[in-house]
Amino acid sequence: MPDQLIAGNWKMHGTVAWSLALVEELKHRNLDALNAEVCVCPPFTALYAVHQSLRGTDIKLGAQDVFWKDQGAYTGQISPPMLAELGVSYVIIGHSETRGRFGVPEPDFTEEILRHFGENDATVNLKVKAALLHGLTPIVCVGETLAERQAGQTDAVISAQVRRDIDGLDPAEVGCLVFAYEPVWAIGTGEVCDAPEANRVCALIRRIVTDICGKEAAHGLRVLYGGSVKPDNAHDLLEQPYIDGALVGGASLNANSFAEIVSHAHKIAERRNNGG
Ligand code: PGA
Repeated sequence: MPDQLIAGNWKMHGTVAWSLALVEELKHRNLDALNAEVCVCPPFTALYAVHQSLRGTDIKLGAQDVFWKDQGAYTGQISPPMLAELGVSYVIIGHSETRGRFGVPEPDFTEEILRHFGENDATVNLKVKAALLHGLTPIVCVGETLAERQAGQTDAVISAQVRRDIDGLDPAEVGCLVFAYEPVWAIGTGEVCDAPEANRVCALIRRIVTDICGKEAAHGLRVLYGGSVKPDNAHDLLEQPYIDGALVGGASLNANSFAEIVSHAHKIAERRNNGG
């Protein structure tokens, strides 16, 4: 079983100076010695500097989004080769915040403003294909809103998102993906999904992929949980059999709390390696 992946999504936090200071703190935690794969996803503007600073460590670099074209008249967009050149390994695709679905509602975001966040499964699908073509590993985010959960639509929503997001990929490509189950209502709210339910939905994602692409593809896949992961709930979540890591937002902005989450993954890996 591969090590769990703990990815920190810094969202729109951090000047270059702030990002470098956080990376320096993380380097002092000696995360390389732990049985877990670690990745940080700073804003685009800090990727170059963070990449330089991470040289010589095992900490991977991730980006928070990508466009699907290599180059062209696409003002404001960032292409896969641009990220690959900066040493980026992972890229978050289809995060609920780029889909315009916020865990903590933004009262001044009218329908018209929300259209700015125009992500949908069709664009996610294009981005996944483009990222793979350039050797980037997509972290594909799926998740239901509170209204969808309350209406009993969780499984249908997740299933539709997964199917559309991987449409047209061959099984070998799907086997390289990372999915993140991120219930929208748990993101930034402090309301974590309880561990057995998060495990159930992660297992569902794996089952859907197996149905579409076969056992082989699903074997290589990793399914993370994200949404208010903190040091005090990480152990419960990470020890679930179908949860292969965590996508961490708020708690990744602090070196101590992020390192503590990584050390939970390490302890679980140690126990499993020892047959426990
Ligand atoms: P959170 O964010 O940990 O702050 O809830 C997770 C995410 O959005 O990836």
